[in-house]
Amino acid sequence: MCGIVGYIGNREALPILLKGLKRLEYRGYDSAGVALNNGGIKIFKCQGKVADLENHIGTQNASGSIGMGHTRWATHGVPNDINAHPHSSQKGHFTLIHNGIIENYAELKSKLQHRGYEFKSDTDTEVLVNLIEYIYLKGNITPEIAIRLALSKVEGAYGLVILCDKEPETIFAARKGSPLVIGVGDNEYFLASDATPIVEYTKSVIYLNDNDVAVIKKNELKLKNIKNDILTPKIQKLDLELGQIDKNGFDHFMLKEIYEQPKSILDTYRGRINTNSNELTLGGLYDILPKIEHARRIIIIGCGTSWHAGMVGEYLIEELARIPVEVEYASEFRYRNPILYKDDIVIAISQSGETADTLAAIKMAKEAGATVLGICNVVGSSIPRETDGGVYTHAGPEIGVASTKAFTAQVTVLTMIAILLGRRRKTVDDNLYSSLINGLLALPEKIEEVLKSNDIIKEVSSHFYEATNCLYLGRGYLFPVALEGALKLKEISYIHAEGYPAAEMKHGPIALIDEKMPVIVIATKDSSYDKVVSNIQEVKARKGIVLAIVTKGDTVIKNMADYVIEIPETPEQLSALLSVIPLQLLSYHIAIMRGCNVDQPRNLAKSVTVE
Ligand code: AGP
Ligand code: GLU
Repeated sequence: MCGIVGYIGNREALPILLKGLKRLEYRGYDSAGVALNNGGIKIFKCQGKVADLENHIGTQNASGSIGMGHTRWATHGVPNDINAHPHSSQKGHFTLIHNGIIENYAELKSKLQHRGYEFKSDTDTEVLVNLIEYIYLKGNITPEIAIRLALSKVEGAYGLVILCDKEPETIFAARKGSPLVIGVGDNEYFLASDATPIVEYTKSVIYLNDNDVAVIKKNELKLKNIKNDILTPKIQKLDLELGQIDKNGFDHFMLKEIYEQPKSILDTYRGRINTNSNELTLGGLYDILPKIEHARRIIIIGCGTSWHAGMVGEYLIEELARIPVEVEYASEFRYRNPILYKDDIVIAISQSGETADTLAAIKMAKEAGATVLGICNVVGSSIPRETDGGVYTHAGPEIGVASTKAFTAQVTVLTMIAILLGRRRKTVDDNLYSSLINGLLALPEKIEEVLKSNDIIKEVSSHFYEATNCLYLGRGYLFPVALEGALKLKEISYIHAEGYPAAEMKHGPIALIDEKMPVIVIATKDSSYDKVVSNIQEVKARKGIVLAIVTKGDTVIKNMADYVIEIPETPEQLSALLSVIPLQLLSYHIAIMRGCNVDQPRNLAKSVTVE
């Protein structure tokens, strides 16, 4: 996590750095700092948000046209002024900001301490900046060579921007495992963890690859790898608009992104479903489709909400294409020494395309010879560059830490994959195919209808926001929705919540039911509806408070639940896409009523680029 920005050019750097850090604050926000190289390197940093940094700088002289900034998500050392980035080396020759983890920092720190280095902070980052200086002074070499030599001794992940007092007209950048993008301007360069701080200045960008080292002057960029091979920078065009990264009148990014879902789902299937012929094509899979349709099994990996989308994908692909599917937490999969075959198909799901555990699991699967596909939302991010193919979701930038439109976009892609595979394997007949395709095409309008219930959902939230625990129940496609609804509530309102298969409640959780326990049941009309009705009765028999998400016109559950939210009918296979919307709004309103920071919940960050 953490957000990194840098600037070198003819403009005042500070405003660019601060604005960029605010755009990246969703990546981490426990402390922030900037450094400017203007006849000597000046650092301003403090615990808190970027707004706190602005106040800390106040009217101090922070001029200069070369600088960098960092908004932190701590991994080593508590959030405080000293552990905030940037970090300087002991003799002040180097100043550095870092995204990632230096895994062998303790060993390096001990060696440096034996050579007289003292440390002010508890961070791994400070070890790296002192290692660079130690090598620079010992070898009497250039800053660039010292940086490369130091990085060759580092284990772990880094995205770095570095200033050197001996080269005041230069900014250095390096990347291994943590993202770094360079914006190419007219006699100026911009650096950032992703493109959102860059897009308002230039659409020409260079995505650094692992082991790249860039040496940048305002009118020149040199790119090498860590072995000193000269590389040719690949300049790409951004397909991002500034308007996509503003709140556009909404109180929070999360609310905006919930309301964007009719459009983000349409954008995700646009150009992939021919609305005249209803034909479905997924270009990113084209040349590996035969391999997928004949797969002996598919393994889906992801974290958090992406793992929940994978759970929906399992139900979809097994039902529609009859291919065995296993869903794995990436963090477990990468360490449990799983059985992997060369004919395995692995599908990695990630909104950010930068989640460290998912990236590592991909690399492990590829080493085992499996074919790896990606379902990502950020073009040019690390995971699409690691996979053999894949399908981008077109949800647009998701800034709110709690994932909403990315989840429904991921499930839309998984639905299209399952339909396509079922079609090719002849396990989806014409009727079912038409029903599903037409169901997808009808979704944006149906989501608009659900969004119209926002006021009802807000009123219902007022009865739940003081709860201390919540149970979410669902069956079939709605079980992963129960998991996702519980995660949404947990991560933005800090109320403990658990999602369970509705039938599983009898095997323990039912002991939790009393008049203080809210139970949210996703109970839309599907093949297990009658069973879910019985589960609701079991809860009511124990005085539980039931909020039920039901299909419009349902009268049965309406007469037994305490609160009901209606959603339009849709094919069972698409029910996850619709039933999750009220749960997103419910968690949003409850969090607001509890005074929580919805877009930047405590302890969290949008992209978990560290282990
Ligand atoms: C979801 O609301 C959370 N922010 C989190 O669980 C997230 O889904 C997870 O960290 C995976 O992120 P990714 O999709 O970018 O890989
Ligand atoms: N490991 C560094 C620290 O704890 C950087 C963390 C980050 O990527 O935000 O300061």
